[in-house]
Amino acid sequence: MIRFKSGLGVVIASGALALMPMQLSATDGVEIDHLGVNNTLVRVTGEGKYLILPVQESNDEAAVNIIVDGKLDRTLSVRLAKSKVDYTVPLNLERYAGKNVVLNITTTQNRSTVREAKEDACWSNFAVTDTFDTTNREKFRPAYHHTPLYGWMNDPNGMFYKDGVWHLAFQWNPYGSKWQNLSWGQSTSRDLIHWETQPDAVIEPDGLGMIFSGSSAIDKANSAGFGKDAVVAMYTSAAASQIQSLAWSNDGGYTYNVYPGNPVLTLESEARDPNMFWNPETKEWTLVLAHALDHEMLIFTSPDMKEWTLQSSFGKGLGAQDGVWECPDLFELPVDGSDEKKWVLLCNLNPGGIFGGSATQYFVGDFDGKTFTPDLDADGKVPTKWLDYGKDHYATVSFSDAPDGRRTVIGWMSNWQYAPEVPTMQYRSANTLPREMGLFRGDDGQLYVSSTPSPELEALRSKVFKSVGNMSAGSKPKKYAIPELCEILMTIDPAKAHSVSLELSNALGEHVDMVYDVKSGTLSFDRRHSGIVDFSQDFPAVTYAPVHSSDGKISLRIFIDRSSIEVFGDNGRFVMTNLVFPNAPYSTLDIKADGGNAKIPDFRIYTIND
Ligand code: FRU
Repeated sequence: MIRFKSGLGVVIASGALALMPMQLSATDGVEIDHLGVNNTLVRVTGEGKYLILPVQESNDEAAVNIIVDGKLDRTLSVRLAKSKVDYTVPLNLERYAGKNVVLNITTTQNRSTVREAKEDACWSNFAVTDTFDTTNREKFRPAYHHTPLYGWMNDPNGMFYKDGVWHLAFQWNPYGSKWQNLSWGQSTSRDLIHWETQPDAVIEPDGLGMIFSGSSAIDKANSAGFGKDAVVAMYTSAAASQIQSLAWSNDGGYTYNVYPGNPVLTLESEARDPNMFWNPETKEWTLVLAHALDHEMLIFTSPDMKEWTLQSSFGKGLGAQDGVWECPDLFELPVDGSDEKKWVLLCNLNPGGIFGGSATQYFVGDFDGKTFTPDLDADGKVPTKWLDYGKDHYATVSFSDAPDGRRTVIGWMSNWQYAPEVPTMQYRSANTLPREMGLFRGDDGQLYVSSTPSPELEALRSKVFKSVGNMSAGSKPKKYAIPELCEILMTIDPAKAHSVSLELSNALGEHVDMVYDVKSGTLSFDRRHSGIVDFSQDFPAVTYAPVHSSDGKISLRIFIDRSSIEVFGDNGRFVMTNLVFPNAPYSTLDIKADGGNAKIPDFRIYTIND
């Protein structure tokens, strides 16, 4: 046996000790044995909480088999660094305390010689440490939106409210900033704005597969037998096929036990993202499951969350169909200004969204406990409706058990068209701001969902940075300085103007243009010159929202947070969420009107607390 101990440059050859020149020197607390052109053993020899894994994003994924006392514990897919280290990720060793840990690593790149394989940057950068630094290194990381401490994030999962705490789990890769190793990470908050993130995943891939999206509910009556008030999570176990599994928590949702009887629901075709809730009318659990490739949602019921009976399906041939259906949610809402209540079915889809890629469509209708029946439009058709008119709003679902009858949702603030390519590395993706769902009747007689910024957001306002009463906007732009993190509020009465334009710009000439076109009744958002846009051909884009205003007046609340802009119109009657990556923060807002002067009776800019 030939053993290279990288750290000291020592070679043990057939029992003889010899010194030899080594280029591998940074390695600390590990011993590395190269076994061939694409197979290497990394043995943990030092003491510490973490084994640091060096990552290079452009490299292929290596299969990292974690062998603990001779047994395979799990396999991670990690883009181990080849020519340079982009960043590192930590493998928590505490759970293996007192045990032998060896990583048996298979890389995909085929080298002609072991000597070549040994030159990979990763081997000299593994290290056992007691700390892993999660201090933010990214200029685009939002300040008041939820982001993972590090690594890749997509959909929000298993959101619920209990004992004054909002729980937000999320699709997380703790071992890199691209989609892989899907687990549930988790953050909690008392105010929906400031989030504390647990350092480790709360549900991790197991023998049944990765942990895909799902929901959580509080089992008040102990119907599943996991304990009274247990938090029960239902998620998709994804391997060769997708099956539905349970995990539960008896400590209010901080740690989970995986149900040994998993899976609880299997089908013969791809189905995922279980969303379940207790229906007090029927006194049973209701589950909506995305029958992804069939472009429909399946509805099941159960007395105990373990035995599920298929009741109906909804969606075949309806709404937007150009992509897989994913991440459903079903809830009842009061109709604004009436005693009526209606059900809303959220059907996220990807691709096929209104501006390409992923987006959230919804249907309004009735639900009798078994079947969802959509409302029809004046032509007797089922209309397609969109929850958000930006490009970066997906996988939106609601918190269960939110207080005061609230229906609070959060979405993933990205788009599958380019999410893995956005110009961040330490972390990838943020969530939208929390929003309150409501129902209003539009001028066409149809019911639409409104998305109002959650009331907690008002507490973020630190001071009025600028306030102008009774402004008149004409063809010569009015210019205002804006802080990097801010909320801009205004009401616009276009009067005789054809259009009112708002331009955000920075000193580098990068800009975002929003135009309220009075005749078409739309607000557009143009980010084609917003900053870094060339990482994907799908990123430079213009999006449009219908403003639903009967008298032409609109009010806007615009939230800017480094790399995101969310525009809420008329108390949530339309909303638009778009990412932007300006090379310097936008520092000026220009307001102008064309075709006549517009009145802006109320205009305020609030600095937002970092
Ligand atoms: C939606 C989605 C889900 C799936 C998850 C996997 O963004 O594709 O359907 O459960 O992401 O990460």
